[in-house]
Amino acid sequence: MSTRRSVVITEFGPPQVMSVRTEDLPDPGPGEVQLRQTAVGFNFIDVYQRKGAYPLPSPTGLGFEAAGTVEAVGPGVAEIRTGDRVAYMNAGVGAYADRRNVPADKLVVLPDGVSDEAAATLLFKGMTAQYLLRKTHAVQPGELLLVHSAAGGVGQILTRWATALGATVIGTTGSPQKRDAALAAGCKAVVDLNEPEWPTAFLEATGGRKARVVYDAVGKDTLIRSLDCAAPFGLVVSYGGASGPPPAIEPELLNKKGCLFLTRPSVFPHNADAATFRANAADLFDAIGRGHVRVDIGERFSLDRVVEAHEAAEARRVVGAILIEP
Ligand SMILES: NC(=O)c1ccc[n+]([C@@H]2O[C@H](COP(=O)([O-])OP(=O)(O)OC[C@H]3O[C@@H](n4cnc5c(N)ncnc54)[C@H](OP(=O)(O)O)[C@@H]3O)[C@@H](O)[C@H]2O)c1
Repeated sequence: MSTRRSVVITEFGPPQVMSVRTEDLPDPGPGEVQLRQTAVGFNFIDVYQRKGAYPLPSPTGLGFEAAGTVEAVGPGVAEIRTGDRVAYMNAGVGAYADRRNVPADKLVVLPDGVSDEAAATLLFKGMTAQYLLRKTHAVQPGELLLVHSAAGGVGQILTRWATALGATVIGTTGSPQKRDAALAAGCKAVVDLNEPEWPTAFLEATGGRKARVVYDAVGKDTLIRSLDCAAPFGLVVSYGGASGPPPAIEPELLNKKGCLFLTRPSVFPHNADAATFRANAADLFDAIGRGHVRVDIGERFSLDRVVEAHEAAEARRVVGAILIEP
């Protein structure tokens, strides 16, 4: 038995509903390992869950992603050993903690070239970019893509990786201060979403050409007008709602906008079993090794400052990823 510190919420609401508790942590059970976590990732889904937009039972922990070292191995675990450096992105909520028991089949062993911090900021977001670029649409050289929130966590990774695959990326950001980060990630041009006619600004930047794929995780504020940026028979990917849930869309509207395809995918079914998860992670680690993927850590917060981390994310203040240090 050891002790651990973790973030708990007993009601849904603003960042202040989160508090840090110290409690006993039992030895790992069958199929589990115990991790000493060294780096915890923040993802925007943590905000949706804290607010109750994606309901969870209460009380609950928060957080999907962390990296650390295996301290103990439970009965029946063969593929992971004490001392391994590992990371996870889909072991159930509760990553905001300094220690945790995690099912071994949710873990991937980190290669030497991937630090704990890189894994904790890259795995969830990078695996999202991985399926968006490989499965939702297999991005080809020369294709034109529109990536919203191109200076954000997923947005930067998606932009860098798509650019490395030979695509041309036009990004959007919510403030001019994020423009440089989006350009540094590889955007050919950046459109300011505060511009009321931002779809027109997008078309001016491309000389009138529309996008083969629009990646939209802003949702409520952008999705309808994202349809105007997609080429005939193009694909609009609605993969999040940072500004609020995306609006309902009648199929006939897709016809009027150019026989478009609309999809709403999620990272979890794309990584549902251990073999697929580890194969996709190997693809991500390969892209990191080639320099095609990296994410800049925009701000760091200790576990005790987790309330400030969520406030910063919701204020759209952070450029790049937020890291929580347990
Ligand atoms: N479906 C999936 O599989 C999946 C997996 C992972 C993440 N996601 C989604 O991908 C998006 C990005 O995730 P992330 O963790 O990397 O977050 P993030 O990009 O670091 O933060 C969210 C971004 O959304 C933009 N935004 C626009 N309107 C906003 C508003 N009203 N409030 C807050 N932010 C707003 C902000 O960029 P600007 O200020 O530049 O607009 C901000 O950078 C989220 O919507 C998330 O839910 C989906």
